[in-house]
Amino acid sequence: MRVLVSGGAGYIGSHTVLALIEAGHDILVVDDFSNAKPTVVGRLEALSGRHIPVHAFDLTDADKTSHLFDTETIDAVIHFAGYKAVGESVAKPLSYYENNLGSTFSLVRAMQRHGVHKLVFSSSATVYGTDQAAATEDRPTFATNPYGWTKVMQEQILRDVAAADPDSRFALLRYFNPVGAHPSGTIGEDPSDVPNNLMPYIAQVAVGRREKLQVFGDDYDTVDGTGVRDYIHVEDLAAGHVAALEALERTEEPVSTWNLGTGRGTSVLELLHAFERAVGRELPYEVVARRAGDVAASYADPSKANAELGWRTVKTVDEMCADTWRWQSQNPDGYPD
Ligand code: WQD
Repeated sequence: MRVLVSGGAGYIGSHTVLALIEAGHDILVVDDFSNAKPTVVGRLEALSGRHIPVHAFDLTDADKTSHLFDTETIDAVIHFAGYKAVGESVAKPLSYYENNLGSTFSLVRAMQRHGVHKLVFSSSATVYGTDQAAATEDRPTFATNPYGWTKVMQEQILRDVAAADPDSRFALLRYFNPVGAHPSGTIGEDPSDVPNNLMPYIAQVAVGRREKLQVFGDDYDTVDGTGVRDYIHVEDLAAGHVAALEALERTEEPVSTWNLGTGRGTSVLELLHAFERAVGRELPYEVVARRAGDVAASYADPSKANAELGWRTVKTVDEMCADTWRWQSQNPDGYPD
């Protein structure tokens, strides 16, 4: 299929572009580069040996989005593009609603206008609100921050569109905590500012860009008191998107929802020690107060995706750390401008 990947220059998008090419699909990318560097495209072309067509514009521009569908052959869409920083969403709610919902409105309208029915949507475990332990897809969804609400709302919009147009073939993918990097070490996670997320922060401590890790609380009711999460290797996540896209060719369901996770939890200190094994030395940290809004434990029940997609994660936490370290040590300052 020829697949439009929105946000294809981003962390998960770039790894999925590679997986789609390796699975024999053609791709084109749309990205506004508000949270990605153009350097990624060259890295992807080097890794894939293919030209990567890129359209650089903001998907909330409905005319440009519709024009793209007028001029390009598109069989399916994987929609990653969106703002995704929880803290930032609290400070700038209107920007988050305008951008995340607006891009989905213009994308789905263009799809309908051009008879494109297959859409894989990048959702998040954040839609489980504070009830994220062993989460199954039938749980009610809610959020505790504007970013999470944009995901809850986009899912609802897509369910309502699918109910009105049964020819729709939508996959809502709820990821847990994406980490890791392509084993080549040439593409990876490159936060534009101080990393909010644990893995890139640890990686930046290891490479000397940050002094030490702050562990946000060790008094949770977990294995060692620190927060537990379901870390999923971005390569496994990318494979999950390819599996979901191909499932849309088979299913009769207008909309399907799948958790993409390992089903296993890892604590902050367990991840830190796994990273120390990858680096071969101890890394400095200090325990500080809990971060507002954090839950104690979040991990998937991935059995529905395992059964219906014929997909499961294969990468271990040690591989997640080794691949992250290879990317970070080869690119201490992330992608060059
Ligand atoms: C993981 C654990 C922290 C940083 C977020 C978003 C979620 C999704 C994935 C988009 C927690 C602890 C972290 C640090 C720490 N994003 N931690 N020190 O919060 O589970 O999920 O990213 O969909 O929507 O909320 O990920 O990596 O921020 O935190 O101790 O410097 O690491 O308390 O227990 P989180 P995270």
